[in-house]
Amino acid sequence: MGIFDRLTGKKPEKSQTMGEERAVPRHIAVIMDGNGRWAKKRGLPRKAGHKVGAETFRTIATYCKDIGVQYFTVYAFSTENWKRPQDEVDALMNLFRTYLREAAETMVKRGVAVRVLGDLSVLPADIRQQIDEVHALADTLGEQAATASLCINYGGRDEIKNAVRALAREVREGRLEPDAITEDSISAHLYTAHMPDPDLIIRPSGEVRTSNFLLWQSAYSEYYFTDVLWPDFSTRDMDAAIDNFNQRSRRFGGV
Ligand code: IPE
Ligand code: IPE
Ligand code: MG
Repeated sequence: MGIFDRLTGKKPEKSQTMGEERAVPRHIAVIMDGNGRWAKKRGLPRKAGHKVGAETFRTIATYCKDIGVQYFTVYAFSTENWKRPQDEVDALMNLFRTYLREAAETMVKRGVAVRVLGDLSVLPADIRQQIDEVHALADTLGEQAATASLCINYGGRDEIKNAVRALAREVREGRLEPDAITEDSISAHLYTAHMPDPDLIIRPSGEVRTSNFLLWQSAYSEYYFTDVLWPDFSTRDMDAAIDNFNQRSRRFGGV
């Protein structure tokens, strides 16, 4: 039995690489790291790295859809990234401003529904408005479409805290018994409520940590680390990550 059969009980998706059939994970997530170092190496401002990194997102998300990955989720801006110098935060917000809707339009044409996850309440109003438009576009594709999710002002601990607050409110209002809270009901209160947990989480740029990404959802994810900086990350690097993933034995605590 293959890893996917064991996990989902479903037949794995097949993709073609160099004429060979291979299984692809249902949900791949990426910590898009290394933009600043990519720019520094070239004597460019950090924001130049973010711009190229945004294009890499579009390329890799579309590639994932083409090879049969159902969910592709990336970390674009963490709840901790507000600590960066104001000019870098401004540059990132400006990038979301100029890029989000335009990218979503081109990606929807390729069959990829773009969604934004995170605490969006503190984002500038014009960006929130664009995100609403991006979600309306995604809705035109229907539920079976491949989904690319951008996590913005996302933090794993913040997400769990918000879920706990929502559940606590339900208890206070008498709509939920504390003992009726299950792992599934916690999952259902996360931003990723309608997705399976990630099978594979990729972190480029040489760092080997989660930096607060998908803490609850990654309980049994396979991690793949590479020194490639995100703006340089190519479809070949994605193939290498998937091939590596396919060599692993996922036991989920069993034998
Ligand atoms: C990732 O690249 C993008 C964001 C965190 C917004 P970085 O900006 O962290 O790039 P490095 O790690 O400094 O190279
Ligand atoms: C993680 O990268 C966040 C994103 C990629 C959006 P960071 O560059 O912020 O992480 P640390 O600071 O190296 O842990
Ligand atoms: Mg970084």
